[in-house]
Amino acid sequence: MKVLVIGGGAREHALCHALSLDPDVTALHCAPGNAGIAEVATLHAVDAQDGAAVAALATGLGAGLVVVGPEAPLVAGVADAVREAGIPVFGPSAEAARLEGSKAFAKEVMASAGVPTARSYVCTTAEEIDAALDAFGPPYVVKDDGLAAGKGVVVTPDAEAAREHARTCGRVVIEEFLDGPEVSLFAVTDGRHVVPLQPAQDFKRAYDGDEGPNTGGMGAYSPLPWADPKLVEEIEQTVLRPTVDELRRRGTPFSGLLYAGLALTSRGVRVIEFNARFGDPETQAVLARLRTPLSGLLHAAATGRLAEFPPLRWADGAAVTVVVAAHGYPAAPRTGDPVEGLDAVAAQDAPHAYVLHAGTKRDADGRIVSAGGRVLSVTATGDDLTTARERAYEAVGRLHLEGSHHRRDIAARAALDAAASEGRADTSADEAV
Ligand code: AMP
Ligand code: GLY
Repeated sequence: MKVLVIGGGAREHALCHALSLDPDVTALHCAPGNAGIAEVATLHAVDAQDGAAVAALATGLGAGLVVVGPEAPLVAGVADAVREAGIPVFGPSAEAARLEGSKAFAKEVMASAGVPTARSYVCTTAEEIDAALDAFGPPYVVKDDGLAAGKGVVVTPDAEAAREHARTCGRVVIEEFLDGPEVSLFAVTDGRHVVPLQPAQDFKRAYDGDEGPNTGGMGAYSPLPWADPKLVEEIEQTVLRPTVDELRRRGTPFSGLLYAGLALTSRGVRVIEFNARFGDPETQAVLARLRTPLSGLLHAAATGRLAEFPPLRWADGAAVTVVVAAHGYPAAPRTGDPVEGLDAVAAQDAPHAYVLHAGTKRDADGRIVSAGGRVLSVTATGDDLTTARERAYEAVGRLHLEGSHHRRDIAARAALDAAASEGRADTSADEAV
C-alpha cells in the first residue's frame, strides 16, 4: 500500500516512523514533512490546508491511504476532498472535526450523548463572562471557542487574568475546574466501531512541577501503571462510544482518531476536551509500543471495516517522550538554531531511543535547524518507565540546541510509584516464601 501522510510535526514523524517499519507499506510520502521525516518518506511541498492540492497529490501518487495528521487541515475539510477523490482517508470530515474545532459544539454533543464533562457556559459579552466567572469561582477555566494550538486555555486563580483572557477570545467557554489526574485516550474509529489504543499522560505546562504557561505538550508516557485496569473499558463505554454514536445519529459520522482528554476526578471520569486527531506528544509514546502494523489499522478505519479487525498487539514495557523546545517557547519561540547530536543518538541509543522531529528544516547549507516552538521529541522504550525515562534523558543529553529547554520530570512520579509498588510486590512475594 502506498501511503501519504499530511502534516509536518512530531506526530507525523511518529506516524511515518511506524509506517516505515510496516511491511504492508510499499511507498511512504509526506506533505509538507520536516527534516526528520525526509529520512523515511518522500516529501512534497504541498500546502497541508489545501484540500484540492492534497487530493491531486494523492491521486497522482496512486496512494491507497491518506492520513491527515493535524487539526487545521481536518477542520478545513482536507479529508473530505480526498474522500471525494475516491481515496481512503484516515481523518474525519470538516463537520465531524468540529468536535475539536469548536469547544461549544463539543459541549453540545456531549450534552446530547450524556457524556460526562465539566459544567460550562458559552459567553460572548462582558456581562456573560462576569456572570460565568462568578458562578464557578476560582480556579477559573477560560477557553477560546476556536482552534488555538493548545494555547487558548487559561486556568488561573486570578479573576482579573481570567477576565482579560476571556475578553480577547470573542466566543469563549467558561467552565467548572476539574481536579484529578489527566489521561489522554486515543481511539481509532470508522464512525461505528471503536478501537481504543493504550492510555497516555501528557505534560501540558512548560516547566518542571507543572509550572509555567500551557503548551502543546512537553512530554508524555504510556501506559499508565497507576491506572485502574478497567479504565479504558470504562472510558470506551461512557465517553467514546456514546460520542461516536451521537455523531453518526446526526448524519456526520466521525471516522479517524478520536482523542479524549480526560480528568479522573473524585466524582468520576470527566471529558476535558476532544481532539479530532492523534495527540502530540502522546502519539510518540503510544505508537512506540504498538506492534500491530499501523497501515492496516488506519486503512480499516478509513474503509469502514474496523469490526473485522483483529485485537491490537502491544509490546510489553513502557515508553517515554521528552520534548526539546526552542528558546522562548511557548510565548516567542526562536527559530533558525542548528540542531546538533542527532548522529550521536542514532549511533548510541537506537533502537531503544530515537529522535522524532517536530519543528525542523534544512537550511541553505544543508544543516538541520529549528523551525518551530517544539523542535524535537525524544522517544524511548524500556521494560519499565524507569528504564524508558533513563534512555530518553540520556538521548536528550546528547542533543544540543542553543537556548533550548525541556522538562526534567516527565514520567518521574509515575516511574517512582511504579518502582515502589514493584518493590512492595517483591517484598510480599518474599514474605510469602
Ligand atoms: P485543553 O486545550 O482543553 O486540553 O486544555 C488545556 C489544559 O488546561 C488541560 O490539559 C488541563 O490541564 C487544563 N484544563 C482544561 N480544562 C480544565 C478544567 N475544566 N479543569 C481543570 N483544568 C482544565
Ligand atoms: N497533547 C495535547 C494535544 O495534542 O492537543
